[in-house]
Amino acid sequence: MPTTSPHPSESLQRNRKTFKKRYVYNLIVLIKYLRGVVMAKKDHLNIVFIGHVDAGKSTTVGRVLYETGKVPENVIRKLKEEAEKLGKPTFEFAYVMDTMKEERERGLTIDVSHQEFETPKYHFTIIDAPGHRDFVKNMITGASQADAAVLVVSAKDGVQAQTKEHAFLAKVLGIDQMIVLLSKMDAVDYKEADYNKVKNEVTNLLKGIGYKVENIPIIPASSYYGDNLVKRSDKTPYYKGPTLFEALDTLKVPPKPVDKPLRLPIQDVFTITGHGTVPVGRVETGKLKPGDTVVFMPSGAKGEVKRIEMHHQEIPEAVPGDNIGFNVKGVERKDINRGDVVGHPDNPPKVAEEFTAQIVVLNHPTAITVGYTPVFHIHTAQFAGKIVELIEKKDPKTGQSAGKPDFLKTGDVGVVRIKPVKPVVVEKFQDFPPLGRFAIRDMGMTVAAGIVLDVKPKSA
Ligand code: GTP
Ligand code: MG
Repeated sequence: MPTTSPHPSESLQRNRKTFKKRYVYNLIVLIKYLRGVVMAKKDHLNIVFIGHVDAGKSTTVGRVLYETGKVPENVIRKLKEEAEKLGKPTFEFAYVMDTMKEERERGLTIDVSHQEFETPKYHFTIIDAPGHRDFVKNMITGASQADAAVLVVSAKDGVQAQTKEHAFLAKVLGIDQMIVLLSKMDAVDYKEADYNKVKNEVTNLLKGIGYKVENIPIIPASSYYGDNLVKRSDKTPYYKGPTLFEALDTLKVPPKPVDKPLRLPIQDVFTITGHGTVPVGRVETGKLKPGDTVVFMPSGAKGEVKRIEMHHQEIPEAVPGDNIGFNVKGVERKDINRGDVVGHPDNPPKVAEEFTAQIVVLNHPTAITVGYTPVFHIHTAQFAGKIVELIEKKDPKTGQSAGKPDFLKTGDVGVVRIKPVKPVVVEKFQDFPPLGRFAIRDMGMTVAAGIVLDVKPKSA
């Protein structure tokens, strides 16, 4: 009778195979678990890299990821080959972040990109912003998600137009923690005099905007060669402060307003096979848990949260500062847009019929009058808003009222009433700071910035 049982050695082999498979499987589970424990132990911070076009932001991020082992040597080698082929021979580190075809061909960043990375103390989400003036709106989206900023300034070129604009926008968007990276020191032979010259320029700029410069490290660095990023350089003996890596660990985790109602501005929406509709954004206030019913404003679409992920790991609860993706049942992709705000139905985000705001005019070629309709950037939303009333002008030094003006020009501070042209979520700065501060842009420039004093909600 033919036997169906395998030869003993065959069966042993099969057993070994199964054992090996199980072993590998268990090992993977264990590694995932340990990774979760380690990651969960570290606090999380979002950090945005800002500064003028070509200052070296993407190169800095790429080089840091390379030096910390996140990007292997062979990948950098391949990127160098590609960069050389495209006639951009020094862009290999920037290409780590600049992944779009157009970005690589033009040798500049167009939209923000994100990367995860760890220091001994923190788990960071790095947001690499574009410096080119045509893409300031993308920089604003990136900065609106950040807890801290690294302002990259070229030692060769010093403070430039978007060094100023980005630094100012960072402050307006509520980023209080800043690190300055004075890069391309190799291009000035690491000379102390050049370092001091640009350091003074940056210090004056930041002081003028309202930053406490005593707390801001200004690090002489070369991102292309790796000086003072992760490793301390012997070419800058005059500098006694922290490296970039050390400076990152001196940042503080901002307080988490968990007791406030949920506010989660949407940054992007994906449709992922097997997961359905997955909106992505950062929790600003309150908490979000699986099982929660949420409402998307201004559309009013409601759904149930099924699963929340952060850094590709499922989490039981999202709190302020968490950059998450979550899948919702009952809401279609077409019902959600960048700029929507998620809340709970018992305290939904406010859609503004009108709002009053205090603004400061930074840069307007003529004057702001009633009827002016520029673009407002608030949290992750952009909308056209019409100035319907100039309520009062204020003395910028004392805050004293100077009466009702006919116009506001560069340097003026005033209280104005604004009517959004389309429905948008706007909150009082006092209640929800990240949803109550905005920048006003027109003609490719940031013309003004402000905070929301009061909101007249749209009646449902
Ligand atoms: P945008 O994203 O377009 O605003 O530019 P960026 O600030 O990201 O600059 P990027 O990293 O793309 O670098 C621009 C150019 O500067 C590239 O040619 C880099 O090789 C060069 N560069 C960057 N860092 C350094 C540096 O430390 N030293 C020198 N000499 N060149 C650098
Ligand atoms: Mg870049």
